[in-house]
Amino acid sequence: MSDTKQLEAQLNRLRSEIDEHNYQYYVLDNPQIPDAEYDRLMRQLQQIEADHPELISSSSPSQRVGAKPDSGFAQVTHQMPMLSLDNAMDDEEFLSFNKRVKERLKDSQDIEYICEPKLDGLAVSIIYENGLLTRAATRGDGNQGEDITLNIRTLNSVPLKLRSEQPPEVFEVRGEVFMPLEAFHSLNQVAIETGNKIFANPRNAAAGSLRQLDPKITAQRQLAFYAYSTGLVSEDFELANCHSERLAQIKTLGLPITSEIKVTHGSNEVLKYFDDILEKRNQLSFEIDGVVCKVNEIEKQNQLGFVSRAPRWAIALKFPAQEEMTELLDVDFQVGRTGALTPVARLNPVFVGGVTVSNATLHNMDEIERLGIMVGDTVILRRAGDVIPQIVSVIESKRPTNAAKIESPASCPVCSSQVERAEGEAAIRCTGGLICAAQRTQAIKHFASRKAMDIDGLGDKLVDIFSELEMISSISDLYRLEKQQIADLERMGDKSAQNLIDAIEASKETTLAKFIYSLGIREVGEVTAKNLAQHFSTLEAIQAATGETLEEVDDVGPIVAQHLINFFANPRNQKEVAALVDAGIHWPVIVKKSEGDLTLKGKTFVITGTLTNHSRQEAKAKLEALGAKVAGSVSKNTYALIAGAKAGSKLKKAQELGVQILSEEYLSTI
Ligand code: IVH
Repeated sequence: MSDTKQLEAQLNRLRSEIDEHNYQYYVLDNPQIPDAEYDRLMRQLQQIEADHPELISSSSPSQRVGAKPDSGFAQVTHQMPMLSLDNAMDDEEFLSFNKRVKERLKDSQDIEYICEPKLDGLAVSIIYENGLLTRAATRGDGNQGEDITLNIRTLNSVPLKLRSEQPPEVFEVRGEVFMPLEAFHSLNQVAIETGNKIFANPRNAAAGSLRQLDPKITAQRQLAFYAYSTGLVSEDFELANCHSERLAQIKTLGLPITSEIKVTHGSNEVLKYFDDILEKRNQLSFEIDGVVCKVNEIEKQNQLGFVSRAPRWAIALKFPAQEEMTELLDVDFQVGRTGALTPVARLNPVFVGGVTVSNATLHNMDEIERLGIMVGDTVILRRAGDVIPQIVSVIESKRPTNAAKIESPASCPVCSSQVERAEGEAAIRCTGGLICAAQRTQAIKHFASRKAMDIDGLGDKLVDIFSELEMISSISDLYRLEKQQIADLERMGDKSAQNLIDAIEASKETTLAKFIYSLGIREVGEVTAKNLAQHFSTLEAIQAATGETLEEVDDVGPIVAQHLINFFANPRNQKEVAALVDAGIHWPVIVKKSEGDLTLKGKTFVITGTLTNHSRQEAKAKLEALGAKVAGSVSKNTYALIAGAKAGSKLKKAQELGVQILSEEYLSTI
């Protein structure tokens, strides 16, 4: 064989190998090699192609990003129109669809339906000619769309070549391009940091990314694709005679389909599928807005035919909306624990994502400016899953003439102290510190919370009541509460009062790290508090620390150091800390670990199941004291899994990955 022939053969092997890994990863969801190995293969391919540009072929997996078109997107005509779907908004509408189908087919039996998730993205058509991707287009008006071939080529889940020795002359696949949630959130995060356009939802983000004239930008957007039907297919390919099998054919040819597809019989099974998917909705890695139900047999589809733009053999069962319109009635500013004033939108109550929402946070003044929102505006409110409701955009065309600008408050709405906006910070803050009743109350709530002093039974509501009745006006007042005062409150009684007094008493026994965290010093979270305690060993040493010594602590930079210095320099805080120690709060003496004692340094543990002799916190503390890290999920980097009783998925994962599994006894040996 000549050198060139040999090189060509090597290139083809490499390309097929990469194509196969893409197929295993994107279509079968079953990656065979680590990412690093895949990258190595790809680099090898790129290197050979760079050395021999004459051997580059446009279907090579390295050739996804090409040059951009000179002008806009060309118009293309769909040989077979791309239809849309009728919607069923509730069970009743679906049942009448089912009835119509049965009547038209003169079929008294249960109809076989295929159910699929309704992906919330954009419909596209992708055409393969003799196995090679030659054209991709948007749906457009159904008859004419835009040529987005160069952009679709950048999607890793879309093969440039079909997996077939004898590919059909023409094979058109239709499906949805969408942006997985993770990609959407990170895109918006970067946009916030760089002041770029923020997308209201994954669908808009997918649309914006697909309509980029420069495919390089599309390539960066991590768009994904799932096929949901065939389009025009040449006669040399024998299409199956039911939809579910056609989907399987598409998959065999190398294109991904969703794993949630199910063949069902009769309306009850469809409605059950709908409920199951609705339940799963928030666990999926992509957004769906309903279920598509299609008559499975193609023969029956043909009998049913179309009305105007939609088939009579399919229907979209829509989920309750996660976005609704409402009016912004007013904006209030709430004072947080560190004095930050958070604007809160008061809304005309609206039912969205399954609950009635009348408030939504607007985060800060930057967010208000970004949204361009005014009081009186009609806004789009979104509530997806358990995520707090968000205002995603303003409908400017509906702005009333008397809409009012949202002004940043000049003074604290609670204590009237001056407000300030530190340079580089989005938040405006009340400068009142503990003079401000709102900050005080928030500080007490934080102090009592689970990760802080963990005062059982002292929730936010009770702190509000104590503050309103002026039973407490500082953290240390908690330790002066008397049982009778509490028992006299409405709905309290003797027993709950005693329990609370006992819990307050029990909280006196703590750790230095928890105590530091409980003080609610700005930007001092649990980890920083732990590091401070470990580094300085005593409260006195922390109080006396300078900027320089503070910065020696892991995790502490100049800003956190300054917050610590400011906190302990404030006479009110000094008094409060002394009062707490006087009340009897104490912690075990910290024996400093030297580097040599950190026998588990660099090792990551995961704890799962029920432990019998240690609380989770204790187990974690024990491991961390020896330098180990404790993570929440098992990966190949996990050193060991400590599994208690009733361990579930984490144990399974550890077994799969070959991570060593230890019992709780291990903790007693360290
Ligand atoms: S089938 C003739 N299946 O929904 C049937 N469409 O509202 C045409 N969509 O334009 C579409 N998931 O963009 C079908 N599993 C699915 C789908 C789906 C999402 C979109 C598609 C279509 C729109 C119609």
